Amino acid sequence: MAGYILALDQGTTSSRAILYDDHARPIKMVQQPTTLKTPQAGFVEQDAQQIWQTQISCAHDVINQAGLLATDVTSIAITNQRESIVMWDKQTGKPLAPAIIWQDRRTAGYCKTLAAESASGKTDDNHVDMASEIQRITGLRLDPYFSASKIAWLLENDPKLRVRANKGEIAVGTIDSWLIYKLTGGEHVIDVTNACRTLLYDIHKLAWSEELCTCFAIPMNILPTVLPSDGDFGKTKKGLFAKQIPIQAVLGDQQAALFGQGCLDAGMAKNTYGTGCFMLMNIGQTPKLSEHKLLTTIAWQRKSTPIRPDNLSFDQIVQSGRRMLQPPKKEVTYALEGSVFMAGAIVQWLRDNLGMIQQSGEVESLARQVDSSEDVVLLPAFTGLGAPYWRSDISASITGMSRGTTKAHIARAALEAVAYQTYDVLIAMQKDSPHPLTELRVDGGAANNDLLMQFQADLLGVPVLRPKDTEITAKGAALLAGLKTGLYDEATMQASWQVDRIFEPEMSADTRQQHLNKWQQAIDRALKVM
Ligand code: G3P
Repeated sequence: MAGYILALDQGTTSSRAILYDDHARPIKMVQQPTTLKTPQAGFVEQDAQQIWQTQISCAHDVINQAGLLATDVTSIAITNQRESIVMWDKQTGKPLAPAIIWQDRRTAGYCKTLAAESASGKTDDNHVDMASEIQRITGLRLDPYFSASKIAWLLENDPKLRVRANKGEIAVGTIDSWLIYKLTGGEHVIDVTNACRTLLYDIHKLAWSEELCTCFAIPMNILPTVLPSDGDFGKTKKGLFAKQIPIQAVLGDQQAALFGQGCLDAGMAKNTYGTGCFMLMNIGQTPKLSEHKLLTTIAWQRKSTPIRPDNLSFDQIVQSGRRMLQPPKKEVTYALEGSVFMAGAIVQWLRDNLGMIQQSGEVESLARQVDSSEDVVLLPAFTGLGAPYWRSDISASITGMSRGTTKAHIARAALEAVAYQTYDVLIAMQKDSPHPLTELRVDGGAANNDLLMQFQADLLGVPVLRPKDTEITAKGAALLAGLKTGLYDEATMQASWQVDRIFEPEMSADTRQQHLNKWQQAIDRALKVM
C-alpha cells in the first residue's frame, strides 16, 4: 500500500503541516507562526481565524513543496494544543470570541470561588466537594488551565452568548474540534483525548458529565460529539483540496507524543519540551487517580474491538444466532501526566522580553559560558506553577543574584529551571505509579539542547533517550492514522523510533543534592511568601 499521511500540528505558537511517507518518514514540513495576545494580565488569546488560516495554508504549501498532489494523500491526522477553546456560530461558522488559550488564567478567581463555596458546605451530610468530585470524574483538577471555566467565562460575560447557547445556536470545541469543523465544512466532533482535557468529560463512563456541565452552567448541546482517537472524523469539504481527504486520527499533542515515542506499554514515559513541559506515563487500561497532584488522562482510545465468545468469527456468531458475551470493549489507554506551564517559553522570555539572545537556540552557548548558575535560581511561575504545586497565585522570580551575576548565569538558571520542574513531576509520578521509571524518552524543541538534557539525566538519575526525530507529536498522530488505514503496521511503528543520543546520569550524588536543595529553597520561599 502506498500513500502519504498529512499531519496537521496546531501548537501554541505555530501551525505546522508535515507529510509522512509509507514508512512513516517525514518528507516535508511547513510551519507558520501564530500570534499570542495578552490583552490584560492573565489573559492569553489567539485569533481563531488565524489558527485556521495558518493551518490550512501550511497544509496546501507542504503538498506543493513536496511536489505531490492532494490525490497522493491518503489521510489527514490532527494533533493540537489542548484545553484551548473556540466558540463559533453554528450557522455561519464565524468565531464569536477570540480563542482562549490553555495558559489563560482569567478564571483563577472563578475556580477559587467554586472550590471555596463547595468546601464551605462540608458539614452537610449530602455535601459534595467539587474539587474531589472533579478529580473523581475527570482525573483532573479544578484549575483555570482546563477548558470548562474558560467556556463558562464566555457565557457569563456575554449574556447574548448565553441566550444563543440555550437556543442551540452556538458550538464550542477545542482546537481539534475547530479545525475539523473548518476542514469538513460542518462536522462538530472532538477526539476523546481532547474531550478529557475539558473538565467536563467522564473518563470512566466515556461520556460528557451532566453533573459537571451543570456545575459550570454549560449547556450540553453546545458540546461536540466525542469520537475515538482513530475514529472517522469526516472528509475535507469539496473544493478545499483536489480530492476529499478523510480525517482518520486525532490526538491532543501530549498524547500524540506518548504514542509517537512508542510508549505503548504501562510504565513507559516521555517528556515533551515545548512551550510548556509535559511528562506522561502510560498506566495501562485502568484509570488510577493521582494522590500526588498529577492528572489522570486518556492517552488514546482506539476503535472499539468487540470481544467475541469462544473466538468465533463474526459470521459464525451471526449464523449461530448467539449474542456477543460482552458489549464492545472500549480500547482505552490511560496516562498519568505532570503538566509544567513554562519550559521553552522561558527561553522565549529571555529572547523576547530581555533581549538576551536573538534565537532560542543560542541559549545553550550562552549558558555554557559559565560552569554553573552559582546561587541563581529562576522560578518560572510566569503563569503560576502547574504540577505538582498547582498555584496560580505565585509569580516568577530570579533569586540568588550577586554583583558578579551575568546573562550567562541567568540563561543557565533558566535551563536548570526546566529540568527542576520535570524532577518535581517525576518524584510525584514515582509515588503514584507502581512502575519505577527506568528511562525517559524526550522530544520537543528544547530536547535538542544537550546541556539541558545532560542536566535532566543528572537530576533524574535515569538515562534520557533522545530519538533522531524529535518532531514526535505530529509523527504520533500520523502513525495512528497509518495504523488505522493499514498504510503502517507494528513494524513501521518500531522502525520509526531510532535513538539519536542517550544521556546517562553523570553527576555526583553530593552535587545533585546541592542543586536540588537550592531549588527546594526557592520553591519553599515562593510558597511561603504567597
Ligand atoms: O496542554 C497544553 C499543551 O497541549 C500545549 O502544548 O506543545 O503547544 O506547548 P505545546
